[in-house]
Amino acid sequence: MHWNAITRKELNQRIDHALGENASYSKAEVIGTPATYLDQKEFYPDASFLKHAPFLRTLIANPNHIGCHTLGKNSSPIFKGTQAIEKELISLCAEEIFAAPKNQIDGYVATGGTEANIEALWIYRNYFIKEYRAKPNQIGVLFSEDTHYSITKACDLLLLPPLQLTVSGEDRQIDRSHLQEQLEKAKSEGIKYFIVILNLSTTMFGSVDEIDPVVQLLDQHKLVFKLHLDAAFGGFIYPFTNPNSTHNFSNKRISSISIDAHKMLQTPYGTGIFLIKKGYMQYVTNTNAQYVPGLDYTLCGSRSGANAVVIWMLLMNYGSEGWTKKMQELIERTDYLCQQLTELGIEFYRNPSLNIVTIKANQISSEIAAKFELVADSYEKHPFWWKIVVMDHVNYSVLDKFLKKLKESTAEEIN
Ligand SMILES: Cc1ncc(COP(=O)(O)O)c(C=O)c1O
Repeated sequence: MHWNAITRKELNQRIDHALGENASYSKAEVIGTPATYLDQKEFYPDASFLKHAPFLRTLIANPNHIGCHTLGKNSSPIFKGTQAIEKELISLCAEEIFAAPKNQIDGYVATGGTEANIEALWIYRNYFIKEYRAKPNQIGVLFSEDTHYSITKACDLLLLPPLQLTVSGEDRQIDRSHLQEQLEKAKSEGIKYFIVILNLSTTMFGSVDEIDPVVQLLDQHKLVFKLHLDAAFGGFIYPFTNPNSTHNFSNKRISSISIDAHKMLQTPYGTGIFLIKKGYMQYVTNTNAQYVPGLDYTLCGSRSGANAVVIWMLLMNYGSEGWTKKMQELIERTDYLCQQLTELGIEFYRNPSLNIVTIKANQISSEIAAKFELVADSYEKHPFWWKIVVMDHVNYSVLDKFLKKLKESTAEEIN
C-alpha cells in the first residue's frame, strides 16, 4: 500500500481544476437540469474563506454525481471534472487499501455503510435470479449475530431469508457447528444460493470475522455463494494497523466491500463507499433512467459530488504514511486503555488491530457508563456489554478521567 500526500496548495489547485472541468451553473449555459448551485443568500459564493476551502467550494457548486462513473460509460459531461476525482478515489481505495489488481473494481460514493450493504445484497440477489433463475426465497443471507442491522434491513427490503449465526462468547467468531446446522436447515427449506456477509469489523465488538472457516464449510457443502465484506467500521483503520490483513480483494472469494469514510476518516456524513468486482454493477442497471447519461445503478440516485471530493481530499492530505501513523496512534491509546483495564481486573473484548473496547456490563457501574456516554449492546433489553471507541477526540486525558472513576468505584466496592 502506498500513495503520496500532496500539499494543501496542490489539493486546492486540483479541486479548482476539477470544478473548472465541470460546467458551472453561474458561468455556462446549463438550462436543462432541475438543479443549480446552492441558494446564494444562504451560501454566499463570494465569502473570502472559500478560496482556501475546496470542499465547501464544491458543496456550493453542487455537482450531482448520479450514476456510477467507473463503468467506462459516458456519465453526464456536466460534472466530468469531479467525477474523475471520484473514479480516482474508487481506484485508490480498491487498489491501494484493499489490494485489488488495477482497473478491476467498480464502485461509487454511497450515503453510508447501510446503502453500500443494501447495494451489495441487491446486486447478488439479481445475479442469482438472472444467472440461476432463483426465486428470492431460495437465496439465503448468512451473517453473524454481531452483524450490523443494515443487513436485516436489506433482507427485509429484498425479501431474502436471513440466516443468523451465533458467535462464541470468547472470540466472537462464527460458531462453525451453528453454521453447519443453518446450512442443513436452509437446504431442507429449499434455499440453494447464499449471500455471505463477513465483518471487518463488527459495530459493537470490533471483532473481525475469519473468512477461511466459513468459506471451507460452504465449499464442503458445494454451495453457490457470493461473499461481501462489511468494512464500514474497519475499512479505514484495519488495513493500516494490520499490514498482514488478507481481508481484501487479494482473497479471490471476496467480491465486494463496504467502507465508511464518515467513521474513521472523519469526513462529513453521507460518505460511504461501495466497491465491487467488475461485471456485477450491471445486475442493478435501471434502464428506465433514460434521462441520466450512462444510466443509474445506485440505490440513492442523485448524490453530491462534494462527498467524493472530501474523501479524496482526506486521503491525499495524509498520504498512506500519514494515515497509517494516525491510525497507529489510536491503537496505542487503545492499548493503554486495555492495559489499565487489565490491571483493574475488568473483563473486556478487543481485537488488537482495532480501537474498540467492549466491557462486560457487570464489570462497570451504569452511572460510569452513562457519565462517559458508553454505548450499550441493547437499550431495549438489559445491557450485557458497554463499548468504548477510541476516536480522535478520545485522548489520554479523557481516558484517564474514565479510569480514575473506575478505580474509585472499585475501591468503594472493596471497602
Ligand atoms: C459494521 C457496520 N456496518 C454498517 C454500518 C452502517 O453504516 P451507516 O450508519 O453509515 O449507514 C455500521 C454503522 O455503525 C457498521 O458499524
